[in-house]
Amino acid sequence: MRIPRNGRFALLSGALAAVLVAAGIAITGSAEAATTLGASAAQTGRYFGVATSAFRLSDTNYMTILNREFNSIVAENDMKWDATEPQQGRFNYTNGDRLVSHAQSRGMTVRGHTLLWHAQQPSWAQGLSGSALRNAAINHVTQVATHFRGKIHSWDVVNEAFADGGSGGRRDSNLQRTGNDWIEAAFRAARTADPGAKLCYNDYNTDGINAKSTGIYNMVRDFKSRGVPIDCVGLQSHLGTTLDSTYQQNIQRFADLGVDVQITELDVQQGGNQANIYASVTRACMAVARCTGITVWGLRDPESWRTGANPLLFDGNGNKKAAYTAVLNALNAGGPTTPGSPSPSASSQPPAPGGCSAGVTLNSWNGGYTATIRVTAGSGALNGWTVGVIIPSGGAVTSAWNAKNTGTTGQVTFRNVSYNGQVPAGGYTEFGFQGTGTGPTATPSCTA
Ligand code: G3I
Repeated sequence: MRIPRNGRFALLSGALAAVLVAAGIAITGSAEAATTLGASAAQTGRYFGVATSAFRLSDTNYMTILNREFNSIVAENDMKWDATEPQQGRFNYTNGDRLVSHAQSRGMTVRGHTLLWHAQQPSWAQGLSGSALRNAAINHVTQVATHFRGKIHSWDVVNEAFADGGSGGRRDSNLQRTGNDWIEAAFRAARTADPGAKLCYNDYNTDGINAKSTGIYNMVRDFKSRGVPIDCVGLQSHLGTTLDSTYQQNIQRFADLGVDVQITELDVQQGGNQANIYASVTRACMAVARCTGITVWGLRDPESWRTGANPLLFDGNGNKKAAYTAVLNALNAGGPTTPGSPSPSASSQPPAPGGCSAGVTLNSWNGGYTATIRVTAGSGALNGWTVGVIIPSGGAVTSAWNAKNTGTTGQVTFRNVSYNGQVPAGGYTEFGFQGTGTGPTATPSCTA
């Protein structure tokens, strides 16, 4: 169902609102439009992110924009195989850790990019084949996902494994030559290493219904039917001067398989249509409840990998382009909230003035689950918070991240850690835990 683009909740007719409520679709909008990309996306439980690099953390103009506008980041290169395991078995997380720390200090989520890819492999891996390469690849997935465990919102577990053109099949690569099951082996290893991260398959030239996106669609459907752990599909969306008319339909068909969709590397060739294409992509994501976030592949035009295309939202001086305003307006027009975002109707209460509220989102499997708890500040800023969660009998908390727990069964208390106790008025932070048994169903309590 499409949501009116310019309409706010207050402008929906009572009849339409009743239909939407009956259909179980939550609509959000606000009396006042948010003025940054991240805040606007957050109104519907989505994120708006940017690809960046550790070496940019010292660029003042750049970081002012990044910190102001975005509530998610991804490493453009710093978490790739050549960066994190330059010699076999010797891992380097320095730059990835710097990005994660920065994100945590600002309450941003982090996308992980990417555990396995045929490109940007270290030279030692390029020289391997067969079981030696398969073992090295799975070890890489395990080590890197374990290192960043609890800190990554979504991992691109496998990147660009499908062929271009009309075959709809796999791309030839050294990884593919280790056996067709290399992708599912990678997903299973990633789930074991970091059960709290959403696991994505990510690719380009999938910007509509075509042979390549259909090949991926069939793989995801197969994975879901056989219980291979996959939670999301990344549509990179490196776009030219036109947008495929089936862009939204393609997002929807993946969502209908029961996975989230993320627009992961958005950039658009500058030209007459740039702002319109950015707006259309944003609206398409906003119209699909399971399209949970958008990431642009760079901040300012001159730093884009697409030299001369000027495909980003900010010019070289950091000024907002027309495309920026088009995206902001599309985000502020609202849309269905994402199922992953705790909403008042689902599992949290409106925050009390000066207090806080908490909502829970579960990612469950047979015998276990991970819970993401969102702590939302009321009309005053928080300086420390405590959340109480009732763990159903027979189950127990086995690990927690971004919070410290007291107890593991029954009523379990979680307190903020050093870097996430302060939450601005109306803002939120998230922590998570893993448990055995079934996940909590009661609304968590929150005190500040
Ligand atoms: O860090 C080295 C530097 O030490 C060396 O002097 C210099 C010389 O070329 O190279 C530097 O590495 C470059 C790296 O970017 C960091 O700037 C690599 O050569 C260059 O190939 C690499 O390009 C990246 C490209 O992936 C690699 O394939 C781009 O920045 C990055 O934007 C691009 O991102 C990919 C996504 O990961 C997957 N989807 C497509 C997307 C665009 O190609």
